[in-house]
Amino acid sequence: MNNPCDLNMNFKEQIQKNRIPRHIAIIMDGNGRWAKRQGLARMYGHRQGVETVHTITEAAAALGVEYLTLYAFSTENWNRPKEEVDALMTLLVDTIAKETPTLMKNNVRLSTIGDLSRLPENTQRKFKDCISETSQNTGLNLVIALSYSARWEIIQATRNIASALQRGEILLEDINEEVLSSYMTTAQMPDPDLLIRTSGELRISNFLLWQLAYSELYFTDCLWPEFTEEEFYRAIVDYQHRERRFGKTSEQIH
Ligand code: IPE
Ligand code: IPE
Ligand code: MG
Repeated sequence: MNNPCDLNMNFKEQIQKNRIPRHIAIIMDGNGRWAKRQGLARMYGHRQGVETVHTITEAAAALGVEYLTLYAFSTENWNRPKEEVDALMTLLVDTIAKETPTLMKNNVRLSTIGDLSRLPENTQRKFKDCISETSQNTGLNLVIALSYSARWEIIQATRNIASALQRGEILLEDINEEVLSSYMTTAQMPDPDLLIRTSGELRISNFLLWQLAYSELYFTDCLWPEFTEEEFYRAIVDYQHRERRFGKTSEQIH
């Protein structure tokens, strides 16, 4: 079988430095299949996936990407077997402890989006500590989507807008795209320019539905634990060859 991740090309050299996507979002998928393929338990795949997170975060920081949003655990993932959910929560705690020095070294600022109140106390605390420790960093913004789903986010935004309306803080006619965006968990961030999904699945799985309206989508068969820096650069080169028209004609763009 051909390995979709075996690459000899040097994509890094092909990247146009003045057109780096400001915001890259990634659906990190395929950990379980990667482990299964070599007869290992799913958790081995998740552990190997953490190594990829490390590699890609450093690569994004070095390229000057402003925002990297990683889908780590969805609202729907709470429905997985309890053993897997528990093991993932432990892995998150261990990873944060281990990776904080790397974030500091690379000037990376951590934040999260999602319903963190559903996470175990110690996981929440670890994230809070790392967020505050990295808060003065000025390089890449690393955003981890945890216990996140776009429909959950849209419901929260709708509730908050309705209650602001009830309190008379905003008027019905004031509600527009900008206002709705400001009620999303991504309020301070530009929309993703590029969305990458690994593992060959061609779906969005409840990720950033509002924000992805005009993002360029990139799908690869490569599984997340085997996704390499070169694969990441390849996605960026592919993105740089697209024409983003935002509804206009090609002639209007040029
Ligand atoms: C992605 O890998 C990680 C999480 C969703 C937590 P999966 O665990 O979904 O791996 P596959 O899709 O079963 O291979
Ligand atoms: C999407 O992966 C969520 C994350 C990567 C965290 P899933 O593996 O849960 O997606 P579906 O359910 O197969 O679409
Ligand atoms: Mg999956």
